Amino acid sequence: MPTDPWAGWLDGVEREVSRDRRAALLRNQVRDRVLSQAGLRPGAVAVDLGCGLGFLSLEAARLVGPEGRVYAVDSDREALGRLSVRAGEAGLAHVIPVHADLCKLPLPAGEADAVVARSVLSYVEERGKALRECFRILRPGGRLSICEPLLAEEELWVDWDLQLPLWEKAVAILRSEHPAYSFRGPDLVREVRETGFREADFFVWYADVTRPFIDAREVKRELEGALPGRLSILKTLRAGGMSEEEIDLLARRWAEESWRFSYRDILPCCFVWGRKGEEGEKRPEGTAG
Ligand SMILES: C[S@@+](CC[C@H](N)C(=O)[O-])C[C@H]1O[C@@H](n2cnc3c(N)ncnc32)[C@H](O)[C@@H]1O
Repeated sequence: MPTDPWAGWLDGVEREVSRDRRAALLRNQVRDRVLSQAGLRPGAVAVDLGCGLGFLSLEAARLVGPEGRVYAVDSDREALGRLSVRAGEAGLAHVIPVHADLCKLPLPAGEADAVVARSVLSYVEERGKALRECFRILRPGGRLSICEPLLAEEELWVDWDLQLPLWEKAVAILRSEHPAYSFRGPDLVREVRETGFREADFFVWYADVTRPFIDAREVKRELEGALPGRLSILKTLRAGGMSEEEIDLLARRWAEESWRFSYRDILPCCFVWGRKGEEGEKRPEGTAG
């Protein structure tokens, strides 16, 4: 199971978002779209994969009501502990924390009406296994609804000028060394279809996450902490052979550019969904499942 310190990191994100109305709005839009695509109704059984502190689970629990239940699955015990406290405080006793790897779910086949996940599968190396587990635990007719950030396709409107070769070096390191930077939306849709899901489709939403950086130090802090543990972007760049001087140059340029009127940071987020076919349902030509 992964050992990245997600719980503390997620706490930091929540604190930041609580001070930033625009970020909160963006996150809530993502949550509502994932949950609405999952078609949750009162009484339904939902599974939230890689639930973290319960960003999807708690709202899913409100939608399914006390006659339904939400299995909140995560490999990080600390995150599950915090989620339990929150669910208790919100009076959502039908949120059931499950400590497990999402490639090996301790849930019976056909248990769930819906499986949801946000920002999880892009960090999982054995994605095929995880999707097969989703398929197994869904009842016939059950729905899968996922949203993943496409870090490899993040668009920075920066004129790198003399630092362009350095930026290209950084991108090449991330694409070859960082799991989330080799993750692509169309690959996920293909994998969902190959797992056997019907009506699998996707939609890419371009979230504008533009914000200025005070200075190079702030850019480096962001690169260090934008993801936890071994997923840290700064650590990956260093391990991939970028010198501190090269990183400083890039960070300085980025900070300067972030104050320009034309500067933009656009993060595409990929929503993917599918449905497990009903028993006896005829398969569309040329598909599995
Ligand atoms: C970026 S966080 C997202 C948390 C939550 N879905 C949200 O939207 O706030 C990723 C979560 O996935 C969990 N995770 C990563 N790999 C996992 C695995 N193989 N099995 C179970 N959980 C995993 C992490 O512990 C972490 O809580």
